[in-house]
Amino acid sequence: MAISFEVVHKDIAGRVGKLRVNDRTVRTPALLPVVNPHLPLITPREMQEMGVEALITNAYIFRRSTEFCDRALAEGLHSVLDFDGVIMTDSGSFQLSVYGKVEVSNRETLEFQRTIGSDIIVPLDIPTPPDAGRERAAHELVTTMDRIREAQRLFPDANLAGPVQGGIFPDLREEAGRAIQDLGFSFCPIGAVVPLMENYRYQELVEVVLAAKRGLSPATAVHLFGAGHPSMFALAVAMGCDLFDSAAYALFAREGRYITPHGSFRVDELAELPCPCQVCRSMTAEELRRSEDQERLLALHNLYVTLAEIARIRQAIQDGTLWELVDERCRSHPRLLAGYRDLLDHAADLARYDNVSKRRFFYCGTESCRRTEVLRYHEVIPRIPIGEGVLVSFDGRGGVPEFDTVLNFKPPFGPYPTELAETFPIGQSEVPEWDDDMVRSGCAGIRALMEAHPESRFAVRCDEVWVPLVLEEIPGMEVYHERV
Ligand code: GUN
Ligand code: ZN
Repeated sequence: MAISFEVVHKDIAGRVGKLRVNDRTVRTPALLPVVNPHLPLITPREMQEMGVEALITNAYIFRRSTEFCDRALAEGLHSVLDFDGVIMTDSGSFQLSVYGKVEVSNRETLEFQRTIGSDIIVPLDIPTPPDAGRERAAHELVTTMDRIREAQRLFPDANLAGPVQGGIFPDLREEAGRAIQDLGFSFCPIGAVVPLMENYRYQELVEVVLAAKRGLSPATAVHLFGAGHPSMFALAVAMGCDLFDSAAYALFAREGRYITPHGSFRVDELAELPCPCQVCRSMTAEELRRSEDQERLLALHNLYVTLAEIARIRQAIQDGTLWELVDERCRSHPRLLAGYRDLLDHAADLARYDNVSKRRFFYCGTESCRRTEVLRYHEVIPRIPIGEGVLVSFDGRGGVPEFDTVLNFKPPFGPYPTELAETFPIGQSEVPEWDDDMVRSGCAGIRALMEAHPESRFAVRCDEVWVPLVLEEIPGMEVYHERV
């Protein structure tokens, strides 16, 4: 298959990569705007000029269109849409999920997608809705897998995407991911997540995506089908999603909604247009409200904002600051915050993919204590060379003669020897005034050291205010809190 994916930079489980499709390259994370040929609010050519390298359109709409079907068959999609980039087509499965049935078979849609010159073609997978029980999800997954195998058999040379289904059941998603991986796919969309996103069910989204990712190889490009609003892109990228297709820019515009990276507004709520895009800098909120061209102008703004967020995420990955961006974005809605916390529950899995060293670590509150960098540091702690008596000094002072080893302490990480003072994360972390959660996390680091060295004697030297907390976290700990 002529789809290949190369990871260039990574952060958490997110990556900046290159998706090569035939002879075209798409930088990832990438946003594929959804193009409806019947309502081209923004033409694909304009999108290309805005930096769009790939788009997605619906083969089902083309196939049933009196206006476009014959042209697509005769001229090909790139000519009809007037777009030089990568064009992915969807099969009609989304219509299936909305209307319950479609008048097309798996073979027919695949044949059609190929004939109109689509660069990435999608079989007729079944998007199992989140309220489906396990039996139905499992049954529909069997059908989806049969269709994926049929697609490979019928079109062995096509650029096929392998959609991962399985409803809200993590074990089914993982199994589906593994089965599709075993078939050799390098491009896998995760399907049936639109209803989760529409209803702010981000915790379930996190569970489903991470489960699918467990089954898939890290070398596979992962597309999140139908996502979404830019406020959730950072979270999705942190889990290892590489591509998004979104109609939000147009759907929101139709409803008079103005997208920002942390939420959206009705255009009549806006006194200002707080955005640097061309649209927002060329008119006032009042003018936008009164404009006859409002829907198109909003669509343009919405798409600019969405593309800028993708660029920001790519930059954050290269800077090693994706956690900070996720933290910031997920504070824009309580349900996103819940999803973020759920992701942190899986930090041990994510730590396996994360970089050992980064440029910096900014403490952004309690959630930061559970980040991958903290877990990784706690895994390093048992390897710190120590003597028989170890004093962990919160204020950097020694002064207790019977201890041969004095370690410093930096929350939320924990104890460290002077040799690590300049290395990541100790040297590159910015931590505000200590709070209870970070000191507790640091105490977990002390426990990790104690567990690795049961033969040594340990004590903590700290300000009086921390004594109760230290004793709570490390019962029986020897604590010094006065000058000795
Ligand atoms: N668009 C949004 N969700 C889905 C899905 O699950 N499958 C397909 N093929 N397209 C989608
Ligand atoms: Zn704007």
